[in-house]
Amino acid sequence: MTIYQAENYQDMSRKAANIISAQIIMKPNCVLGLATGSSPVGTYQQLIEWYKKGDLDFSQVTSINLDEYKGLGPDNDQSYRYFMNTNLFNHVNIDKTRTFVPDGLEADSEKACSEYNQIITREGGIDLQLLGLGHNGHIGFNEPGAAFEKETHCVDLTESTIEANKRFFDSEDEVPKQAYTMGIKSIMQARKILVIVSGESKAEILNEVLHGPITPAVPASILQLHNDVTIVADKAALSRISGL
Ligand code: GLP
Repeated sequence: MTIYQAENYQDMSRKAANIISAQIIMKPNCVLGLATGSSPVGTYQQLIEWYKKGDLDFSQVTSINLDEYKGLGPDNDQSYRYFMNTNLFNHVNIDKTRTFVPDGLEADSEKACSEYNQIITREGGIDLQLLGLGHNGHIGFNEPGAAFEKETHCVDLTESTIEANKRFFDSEDEVPKQAYTMGIKSIMQARKILVIVSGESKAEILNEVLHGPITPAVPASILQLHNDVTIVADKAALSRISGL
C-alpha cells in the first residue's frame, strides 16, 4: 500500500488525477471504476482541464461506476448517473455508451444486480478503481455489516449514510433508503485501487481502515489485503496516522 500525503483537497485532486491520467495514457482502452460523492469532484475537474488542453483522450475508455440510488433515474439531479454526466462525462470525449452505472430505475433488485455483474465480467474487470471513503468506512455503498458482500447487491443505507448524504437533497425524507452497489469482491478484483480521502472528519476512520482489524464492520479495511492500493489523502485526513 502506498500513501501519498497531499496538502489539501486541491492537491489531493491533482495527485489523484495524475494517477488516473497515467492509467489512461498507458492503456487508452482501460476500464476505469469510478466513484461519486464530494471527494472525486476536484479530481474530475482536473481531468477535464487536462482533456481540454489536449493532454488526455477518453475516446477508448470504458467506465463502470460503483453505485446508484435505487429509485432514481438519470434525469434526477441526485442520481449518480446525473452526477457522472455533469461532473465528467459531458465534458470529455468519452463514449457515453461505454459508461456504466447501475440502473436505479430497475425495481427488480435481482435483475439490476445480475445485469451489472454481467457488465463487469463482460468488460474484463476493472483496471483502476477510484474510491472515496464513507464516514463509517463504507466503499461504494458497501455498508458496515456482519459479512463482506461479494457482488453487486441492493443495500439498505445506514442512518449515518442517509444523514451524511442528506445535504444534497431538499430534505432527509427525499434521500433514497436503498441503493445498488458493486460488491467487495468486484472492487477487490480491480487490478489497481486508488482511494482519495480529505478532511479532518475522515481522520479517525482512515486510521481504522489502514491500521485496524480487517472486518466487515469497517468495509474499507479489506483493502489491506489488496496488493496494489494507493491512498491519496490530505494532511487533515492523515492527522491520526502516526509515523508518516
Ligand atoms: C457516498 C458514496 C461513496 C462515497 C462516500 C463518501 O455515499 N456512495 O461512493 O465514497 O459516500 O462521500 P464523500 O466523498 O462525499 O465524503
